[in-house]
Amino acid sequence: MPLVSMRQLLDEAARGGYGVGAFNVNNMEQIQAIMEAARETQSPVIVQASRGARSYSQDRFLYHLMLAATELYPEIPMVLHQDHGNSAETCKSAIALGFTSVMMDGSLMPDGKTPSTFEYNVKTTREVVEAAHAKGVTVEGEIGVLGGIEDGHGAGLDGLSHLTDPDQAAEFVGLTGVDALAIAIGTSHGAYKFSKKPTGETLKMDRLIEIHKRLPNTHLVMHGSSSVPKELQDIINQYGGKLRPTWGVPVEEIQLGIKNGVRKVNVDTDCRLAITGAIRKVFTEKPEEFDPRSYLKPAREAMRRVVALRMTQFGQAGHVGDYAPIPLEEMAKRYRELSAA
Ligand code: 13P
Repeated sequence: MPLVSMRQLLDEAARGGYGVGAFNVNNMEQIQAIMEAARETQSPVIVQASRGARSYSQDRFLYHLMLAATELYPEIPMVLHQDHGNSAETCKSAIALGFTSVMMDGSLMPDGKTPSTFEYNVKTTREVVEAAHAKGVTVEGEIGVLGGIEDGHGAGLDGLSHLTDPDQAAEFVGLTGVDALAIAIGTSHGAYKFSKKPTGETLKMDRLIEIHKRLPNTHLVMHGSSSVPKELQDIINQYGGKLRPTWGVPVEEIQLGIKNGVRKVNVDTDCRLAITGAIRKVFTEKPEEFDPRSYLKPAREAMRRVVALRMTQFGQAGHVGDYAPIPLEEMAKRYRELSAA
């Protein structure tokens, strides 16, 4: 099946009351790990690429790997999503390449670091919505500022300094027409999210519930949702790594979010940890090895396991055959009709 619209995937997730993991990729092994996990658990899939990933893979390598995935896994509905577009140009170039969904992160200026104004965010996101919807492509916006830095993108603040304001979120959705909304509730990108297991003081699930009450029909997106499991940290440290003790977002909090409007759950760090641990183990135990497959295979397998587990925990497992994909042209027609109404 061709790459599908993220709007359709998230609408279906809302109907079924489940969340969909959005996993970041840079290379072939990561795409293979996700697709194998999806086949095993019978899950629809969102694969996302940051600007850094697009530049690392020269764009077209990544895009053609995704096309290969649609050929090899034709039964699986699959979205290719631009993670944290920093400008309308970045989003438009993703759409031109064939991405079926883009995130316009107008919470920051195009430098990807400086928090922007509400007016700038609305104007830039609206411009992307117009360009994307004309092609049937989905748009995720962001209001509030997430913590941390991902692939060079981020204000580098802690997760609590620019929490999403529910009134502003409602106004933003009304003015921009985004399909999905990333919110800041205390999470941040990367491994170092919390210095101890988060409580209501550091991870503001009450804020998320308030936003969902204001916007019951908007698909919410939880960024920075890796759980940073201790087992994965331990493997890295056991084989010569130097991670400081750290806590991620507990899966039960994500599941509470899913009960309250979260439909897209962004996970990158857990996959990175799984891959790194597996590679370190081979390097330590078999220092004589020099065939890249000897460590890339276990790395791919370690990522497959973590992705399959998350797909099951988020509830997307078993939903692969629930619906036929709506072509992007048909999505574009629906958006035109909606805006004319
Ligand atoms: P993690 O660093 O928690 O995996 O978050 C990834 C993310 O939000 C990508 O946008």
